[in-house]
Amino acid sequence: MKKKINVCLIGMGRAGMIHAKNFATRINHGTLVAICDPSQEALAAAEKELGVMATYTDYREAVLAPTIDAVVIVTPTIYHKEIVLAAAAAGKHILCEKPLAMNEAECDEMIAAAKQHKVKLQVGFMRRFDESFQQAKAIVESGEIGDVVLVKSLTRGPSHPKPWMFDIRNSGGPIGEVNSHDFDTLRWFTESEVANIYAIGGNYRSPEVQADYPDYYDTVSMNLSFKNGMIGAIDGAQYVQYGYDARVEILGTTGNIMIGEQHKQKIVTATRNGQLIRPAMHSWTYLFEDAYIREDQAFIEAIIHDTAPLVTGQDGKMAVKLVNLGLRSLLEKQVVYAE
Ligand SMILES: NC(=O)c1ccc[n+]([C@@H]2O[C@H](COP(=O)([O-])OP(=O)(O)OC[C@H]3O[C@@H](n4cnc5c(N)ncnc54)[C@H](O)[C@@H]3O)[C@@H](O)[C@H]2O)c1
Repeated sequence: MKKKINVCLIGMGRAGMIHAKNFATRINHGTLVAICDPSQEALAAAEKELGVMATYTDYREAVLAPTIDAVVIVTPTIYHKEIVLAAAAAGKHILCEKPLAMNEAECDEMIAAAKQHKVKLQVGFMRRFDESFQQAKAIVESGEIGDVVLVKSLTRGPSHPKPWMFDIRNSGGPIGEVNSHDFDTLRWFTESEVANIYAIGGNYRSPEVQADYPDYYDTVSMNLSFKNGMIGAIDGAQYVQYGYDARVEILGTTGNIMIGEQHKQKIVTATRNGQLIRPAMHSWTYLFEDAYIREDQAFIEAIIHDTAPLVTGQDGKMAVKLVNLGLRSLLEKQVVYAE
């Protein structure tokens, strides 16, 4: 049994730096030994923050390094498939950020490659490692709220969309950008697969792009039926401006569970105008900081103890499938049935 897993981070952007910092200092038996990014600027910035280590501009070279046991893939989603296939063929264990790939066929290839080469493939749904989510899961399993009837999950981001996001055939809009987490949450708590989905949405905050991108939407609401009879509801939004908002409700036959709050800290300021002021949650990086650490730690544990990851390639594939079904429903303005 190997006691120390050497990790290479591939993709040193926003999410890549979160994982990199974790593996650099916070993960037991896992060590960051190399970083990879085609951008010299990104590599230099990462090196400055993390200290000097092996650097690669080409992932094909990185995955072949004998010193590396595992890779964490945090590149734009379009590159996930080719990097997963190369890493698996080189015998490296893989933690790949969500969404796993662009479509189900790509996911199938990635899952098959990991199986063939006997490496772990874990997908980056870090919410499953969040303490509150895990407590909620334990409460559901204890029967405390009876049988699950309805799971509602929302994710809303504060920032102005990047220009490429307006073309939803490339970005998927909020369904692709943020709601893949919510799909995974619903699958996890219902322990079932989606039977059908209905999505409605619209562009409420960026009217200036309406002419060029008539399909662009910044807000979406989805209703879902599960094969075991449970109900799901998801909403997603971009550019809400008031903060980062991710909350879940699980309604059972005899109780309910709420996960998440809109505020960042416990501090509340009362003013002479009769107002109570409470700082709003501003970023996913803050809200899920501990969840990322636990996710990264769990990846190392799965390698060391040769156990199945909590979030598998199949989980990644199902979320990709639901993103595409949700988008179809939105564009076709009708209920879409899963096979
Ligand atoms: N789990 C989450 O909540 C979460 C949050 C944010 C992003 N993500 C996912 O992480 C991935 C990256 O998103 P981001 O926001 O960090 O993007 P980003 O644009 O900030 O960073 C991507 C980095 O990848 C590099 N890159 C591009 N092609 C590469 C290649 N072939 N090999 C190596 N590096 C390459 C880029 O130069 C860039 O530095 C996406 O799949 C995204 O959906 C997940």
